[in-house]
Amino acid sequence: MPVSQSTVRVINHLDRDYLREALEHDVTSGLTSSPKWLPPKWFYDATGSELFSRITRLPEYYPTRRELAILRARSTDLAADSGADTLVELGSGTSEKTVLLLDALAAAGTLRGYTPVDVDAVTLGAAARRVAARFPGLDVRAVCADFERHLALLPRNGRRMVAFLGGTIGNLEPAVRAVFLKELRATLRPGDTFLLGADLVKDIGRLVAAYDDAAGVTAAFNRNVLRVINRELAADFVPEAFEHVALYDERQDWIEMRLRASRAMRVWVGGLGLTVDFTEGEEMRTEISAKFRLEGLRAELAVAGFQVRRHYTDPEGDFALVLAEA
Ligand SMILES: C[S@@+](CC[C@H](N)C(=O)[O-])C[C@H]1O[C@@H](n2cnc3c(N)ncnc32)[C@H](O)[C@@H]1O
Repeated sequence: MPVSQSTVRVINHLDRDYLREALEHDVTSGLTSSPKWLPPKWFYDATGSELFSRITRLPEYYPTRRELAILRARSTDLAADSGADTLVELGSGTSEKTVLLLDALAAAGTLRGYTPVDVDAVTLGAAARRVAARFPGLDVRAVCADFERHLALLPRNGRRMVAFLGGTIGNLEPAVRAVFLKELRATLRPGDTFLLGADLVKDIGRLVAAYDDAAGVTAAFNRNVLRVINRELAADFVPEAFEHVALYDERQDWIEMRLRASRAMRVWVGGLGLTVDFTEGEEMRTEISAKFRLEGLRAELAVAGFQVRRHYTDPEGDFALVLAEA
């Protein structure tokens, strides 16, 4: 029997004008606020995604290994429990871990479609083609979109499992997270499920080390946002003049990544006609990564209208995967 070819379609909700407008908006509001901040989605051009892939392989960065361990042990159960035929993945990146879920759905005989969703078009396209080559006959619809803006536009065909892995949920501030979960819930139909990967509260030393590795890869990833702004908005940031800072806020239960100006600086953002002054030692927040307790996560999901069907943690209790239904 001839093996049927997989089809790869790319749907783009982030054309150049949209991206430019969104970046201009975020950079203007972040750099004119006090304290200054930048949202993490702008780390991820092709270089940022490559740096993130390197982070996932660092000895200090336990989340990927822990989530992989859970997926290895539980993908078959998740496939059976969800009964899904279509996997939609938010912030899919390189889709490396996802292959375990796709394998399990294929083994269950239900797999029909895969919809990876990411802001980084280059990494998204490459991942979609890799997945299509591995799963003959699979309908792959890659969607270049912002999961904070475009959930309602995602394809709704099939019985879907919407996966949000890697602890990326923790990059959303609590109020934004609540809106995101409600909006996601509103897009689910009976039979659809939500698979959420969340990093758990643990020893502070290990948490901070995971965001401040000895090899400096996370520091390069952090500074990459300045390179993106230099390129896209004709700015003259000197990335090396900013130090990488990672600290844990115990009150909020989140890691904060910041960039600290090593000297007083005046930065010109040509594309915005904006001058930005930094004092020596001034810190600008570039990412939060919230850490969760299972009860808290369950409660947040409940407020958004989800009910947890199953949850799994790795043997060390570092990371959780939660399967929820609307
Ligand atoms: C922390 S990485 C996780 C990647 C992968 N899911 C994993 O578990 O290794 C976050 C991913 O989400 C993407 N991303 C970040 N913000 C996004 C947004 N607002 N909309 C869509 N994708 C986003 C990034 O490009 C990146 O691929």
